[in-house]
Amino acid sequence: MSLMFDPETAIYPFPVKPVPLSVDETQFYREKIKRLLKARNAVLVAHYYTDPEIQALAEETGGCISDSLEMARFGAHHSASTLLVAGVRFMGETAKILSPEKTILMPTLDAECSLDLGCPEEAFSAFCDAHPDRTVVVYANTSAAVKARADWVVTSSIAVELIEHLDSLGEKIIWAPDRHLGNYVQKQTGADVLCWQGACIVHDEFKTQALTRMKALWPDAAVLVHPESPQAVVDLADAVGSTSQLIAAAKTLPHQQLIVATDRGIFYKMQQACPEKTLLEAPTAGEGATCRSCAHCPWMAMNGLKAIAEALEHGGAAHEIHVDAALREGALRPLNRMLDFAATLRLSTKGNA
Ligand code: 13P
Ligand code: SF4
Repeated sequence: MSLMFDPETAIYPFPVKPVPLSVDETQFYREKIKRLLKARNAVLVAHYYTDPEIQALAEETGGCISDSLEMARFGAHHSASTLLVAGVRFMGETAKILSPEKTILMPTLDAECSLDLGCPEEAFSAFCDAHPDRTVVVYANTSAAVKARADWVVTSSIAVELIEHLDSLGEKIIWAPDRHLGNYVQKQTGADVLCWQGACIVHDEFKTQALTRMKALWPDAAVLVHPESPQAVVDLADAVGSTSQLIAAAKTLPHQQLIVATDRGIFYKMQQACPEKTLLEAPTAGEGATCRSCAHCPWMAMNGLKAIAEALEHGGAAHEIHVDAALREGALRPLNRMLDFAATLRLSTKGNA
């Protein structure tokens, strides 16, 4: 029996999108959420891939919009007693693991991630047991149980640096779950990396042929790619990086037009970072595409205003994140190692500045 997960044959439950709101309903829920955030001593922590209206509300109410690493940091350090995490479930779980004393609410607990779904704990544990000589590094996009099995947790913003560090100590690596990101860090560092074969259903859909055609139409445009995309797409990039790194690259690259191969939710903050530039969505499956293959994560899209208001108003089993105490303890160790490593990196970057 193969211990590897096969992303080509995986079938994921397809989530239901929130019903679009009218202008009046949007206004109603925006005001209601603002009131409830104050009343509950809560703060909104949103990922760059959530819809623009959610990000705008996070901005207006003193919350945060960021990548998964910064979401974890922000939530852990904020004085609010409740965090409303708009993102996918592993982000809520991470917040709970880091801040067990806080109430962690999510608009829906059904907001999955194909990387998390594609890395079930039992099979992954057996895979690790079969390679006991390897250090286990898992991406933040995993369950608390998978994190608890790992030596390190990492996000895409510090993945290359961490694997470089472990390689310099002579360690051989198990990387999970994303095969493309694993392949990318292996190529960047030359480390000995054995990859679990998970995939992100959003980034896996970017296509080289269509991207090459698009580059021909926009010859002066730079291509920005998240490393969860296939290697052949990464090879066409002018900048590769995590969500926050792509926003930084959009600002600093001299190009006036940018073709962006990551979830289109990022356009909200990217356009703010460089209002004078033209942002273009990189092509996914082209004609015949299904809504499964557009550049917007179907689970991130579940974070609607109405669901946020309901979570803040009612909380309870439909919205509150709980993590088993033993799992929490196991997952906290590799998560804290990640945060400490990220802090060391920030210090050394400041030192070099
Ligand atoms: P970041 O860590 O770059 O925010 O990415 C999270 C994610 O889910 C990308 O698909
Ligand atoms: Fe997971 Fe991909 Fe959605 Fe990110 S974009 S949350 S990796 S399915």
